Amino acid sequence: MLVNATAMLKAAEKGHYAVGAFNTNNLEWATGILMAAEELQSPVIIQCTAGAAKWQTSYKVVADLVKNLVEDMNITVPVAMHLDHGSYDDVFKCIEAGFTSVMYDGSHEESFEINLKRTEEVVKAAHAKGISVEAEVGGIGGTEDGVTAKGELADPAQCKAIADLGVDFLACGIGNIHGIYPDNWEGLSFDQLQAIKAAVGDLPLVLHGGTGIPVDQIQKAISLGICKINVNTDLQLVFAEATRKYIEAGKDQEGKGFDPRKLLKGGRDAITARTKELMEEFGSTGKGWA
Ligand code: 13P
Repeated sequence: MLVNATAMLKAAEKGHYAVGAFNTNNLEWATGILMAAEELQSPVIIQCTAGAAKWQTSYKVVADLVKNLVEDMNITVPVAMHLDHGSYDDVFKCIEAGFTSVMYDGSHEESFEINLKRTEEVVKAAHAKGISVEAEVGGIGGTEDGVTAKGELADPAQCKAIADLGVDFLACGIGNIHGIYPDNWEGLSFDQLQAIKAAVGDLPLVLHGGTGIPVDQIQKAISLGICKINVNTDLQLVFAEATRKYIEAGKDQEGKGFDPRKLLKGGRDAITARTKELMEEFGSTGKGWA
């Protein structure tokens, strides 16, 4: 069932596990993720950026796609439809389009004061409709959706000021970056994570850039208060690899192997398999309490 993300992340915070938040704007990709969630009885967050929504025409197309899949596939675990890295304007478009959860990423605003003021307005508007809110302090490095940023360490005092606005969960920079980590990456800053957690109390924290972080670091981050882990590139890579194998093996040239349903099936299955592995790593399996 489609819900906001507040209760599932509060439960994760108490239970010391994390809910996977997987980006998608597409039928095969979303179906693959939902199949994994239902099979493992795990709560899940499906999320979409502005650029991904535009590829598919509009936020409403993506929101309706996920809503209809949840109904038609008889998904019993909680699923949140979340805006990832939304601008202030995008947040209001997604509230209209039927998203159950939004992220306002104010980390790119000119000043922290602007981030603070706009986050406050977003919380008011979203909460009036029962929609959960993720905020961000400290830009996440790397490139996503055409936006490139240098990774930052979030300031715990700023995290506390944003937490006090009543946001439901908070993304904080702790040396994480979007996309593939470079060989000379120094790893997550657990000192920073501990300082942030001490400042914000039981507020669920979000780790962006989940692709390629070693499992021991993922699990340590969860033990220190990370309750939502965003993964995008990882599922794109397994989809591409499976599709490439199908074509390189000449399967599209056998019988009606060129049928897009057949051509995309290996990729979808690879997404389901990898999502299941990640849900096991994050500890969310069997937690779909709906
Ligand atoms: P990756 O593409 O590195 O998995 O990051 C995903 C993410 O953080 C989405 O906001």
